This record gives sequence, C-alpha cells and structure tokens, in this order.
Amino acid sequence: MTTEYVVMNEEAPDLSVIKRAGRIIKEGGLVAFPTETVYGLGGDALNPESSRKIYEAKGRPSDNPLIVHICRLEDIEPIVREIPPEAKKLAEAFWPGPLTMIFRKSSLVPKETTGGLDTVAVRFPSNKIAQALIDAAGGYIAAPSANRSGRPSPTLAKYCLEDLDGRVEMIIDGGQVGIGLESTIIDLTEDEPVILRPGFINKKMLQEVLGRVEVDSTLITPDSGIAPKAPGMKYRHYAPKGELVIIEGERDKVVSEINRAAGYNRAHGLRTGVICTDETRDLYDADCVKSAGPRGDEDSVARELFRILREFDDDGAERIYSESFSGGELGQAIMNRLMKAAGHRVVRTDEGETLHFK
Ligand code: TXA
Ligand code: MG
Repeated sequence: MTTEYVVMNEEAPDLSVIKRAGRIIKEGGLVAFPTETVYGLGGDALNPESSRKIYEAKGRPSDNPLIVHICRLEDIEPIVREIPPEAKKLAEAFWPGPLTMIFRKSSLVPKETTGGLDTVAVRFPSNKIAQALIDAAGGYIAAPSANRSGRPSPTLAKYCLEDLDGRVEMIIDGGQVGIGLESTIIDLTEDEPVILRPGFINKKMLQEVLGRVEVDSTLITPDSGIAPKAPGMKYRHYAPKGELVIIEGERDKVVSEINRAAGYNRAHGLRTGVICTDETRDLYDADCVKSAGPRGDEDSVARELFRILREFDDDGAERIYSESFSGGELGQAIMNRLMKAAGHRVVRTDEGETLHFK
C-alpha cells in the first residue's frame, strides 16, 4: 500500500482532506493523526477488523487494548455500561485533554478493540485535527500511539512515516505535538480511582477533583512481579538501540561520572550519547550531547524526550547516559518513560554508586 502524507495546520484543518481521511477509516483503513499528547494510529473502534489491522501495522501484541477516542461528551454513553460520578467530574475538569478514563464497556465495543477485556479506555483529545477526524470517521477512533511496538511514541509526523510507511493509508502531519508524553490513564471501574499510567494530568490535579486517588502499585515498584493493570505498561518500551543508563545525584557528580564514561567509551571506539539540560550541555565531552531544554522547564523535557531517544538511533549512539528529571510536577510521568527506556538501569551517585564498564 502507498501511504499518503498530508501536511495540515491545526488552526485551519483542511476539511476536504479530513473528510477523505474519515472515509478511509469508515471503510476499514488506517490514518495516523496528531493529538496533543503524541501521534495516534487511528482505525474504526467499532470494527473488529480495523483493530486487527492496527495490531498488525504496529506489530503489537493483541492482548494490549486500544484507547477509543471521541469528539463529543455525549458519545461516551453508547460505548460504556455506566458513567460513574467521578467520570463526570473528571470530564468537566480535563476534557477535551490528555486524560484517558477506563469504564466497563458496552456490547457495542468489540473485544478486539479492548484486547479481550470487559473494560474500555476512552479519551476526548483537544487537538482540533483529531476532533475533526474523529467526527468525520463516525465518532469512535481506536488509536494507540503511532509507533512500531516498542519504539518511542511519535511526537512528529516524520516518525510515523519512519515506522508506518506502507502500513497505513494516510499520515496527517499537524506539526510537533504540544505535550510529548501519552495521556494519563485512570481506572474508574474499581472502588477507588487508580492511576494506571502517569501523564501531564498528575496525581495532585486528579486529587483536587476527586479527593482520593491511588497509583497502580506496579508503577511504584516495577520489579514486584505483579502485572500492571494497563496491559501495555508491562512491555519493553521506548528503548533506543544503544544501552541507556540514568545517572542520578548532585549535578557535578553526575557530569563527572558521565564524562568519565564517555572517556572510557571513546578509548574503546564506542559512541556516547548524553541527555541533559541547557544548563549542563557545555559541561559534557561526548559524541552526541542533547539538551531537553532548561532544567526548570519540564514541559520542554516532556516534549523533547521521545524525539531525543529516536535521534540517538540515527546518530549510532552505543552508550547513552541521561540526567534524572524527577523533580517537578511532571517528574513521575517523565521518569516513568525514561526508566522504561533505560530498562530501569539507574546509577545513584549520591549513594556512592558508579558505572561499571565492560
Ligand atoms: O495519549 C495517548 O493516550 C495516545 C494518543 C494517541 O491518544 N495513545 C496511546 O495509546 O498512548 P497506546 O495504545 O500507546 O497506550 C494505551 C495504554 C496501553 O498501556 C494499554 O494497555 C492501556 O492504555 N489500556 C487501554 N485500554 C485499557 C483498559 N481497558 N484497561 C487497562 N488499560 C488499558
Ligand atoms: Mg504506545
């Protein structure tokens, strides 16, 4: 199949192209499109065959459920069994926006879309292109992030093309996304609301609306051997081809540990990548030094992280070291992705840990 690539301005979506893209989805095809979090790989959420195609195009295990995207609040009713009062409050506070809620599903939603589960994840994105496309496609688009399984989620349309060329009918390029990390997922099907995936809408923001909010325990201690409640959270994800390690601690110690490693790598013919901030960039002596923005600007770090991880592959970085970004409001969401990308390898210089070279 040839993939059509269309550039579009979010402020003025080209409605004739949107209409055509909507028709592609209605007829069972796939379209990659921008959202405010990351690019999505969209198909008809109510058509089991479309969901099968999504799994195939992504190379994704079919037990990993898809998020159903809507563009009108009232469209939620036909696809869920009940709407808990918490959902109404959250929708009012955060929709349209980067929050996904889990409900018990109605029979309208095929099991193929929910990876065999009785629950369905629903999100109402704020991106105008996404909203127009969902409307044109009939109101329900199932969309995982538009990357091949295991790779970082695309924050630019060129990465959708890199991963999905020849596998989808159309890619809509709406520019760089605003947030850069996937939506927060909250489960509303149990007694207590539980965060299954941290994101831009953080625990504090959710607590302000709901009072008590739990965090899935596997996010806190990922090596506990218990399966995460969001099936996708158990898979290896985001990892660059090179080996990534997070170096934590006081700034000067982190810089000197990374430079020591870079020196060793250079002597052994290995290329070194570094993920840092504007403040530290000039302190590193390594092959590919990439700043995610000023340390105080978490939004920038979130937005640039997946791009940087992808760029290291093109640069041929074999050993990659990242500063830690656990400080602020977005710290949990950023570190959740970074820790996965690093396979949970962390060196805590504050505790006297050092890198071991081989
Ligand atoms: O920001 C986002 O959420 C993006 C954009 C495109 O909207 N989408 C996205 O989808 O990140 P995906 O498929 O890459 O991640 C969906 C996550 C997976 O970890 C999946 O296991 C979980 O949501 N999930 C989906 N339905 C679920 C359900 N019924 N119960 C528990 N987890 C669910
Ligand atoms: Mg994904």
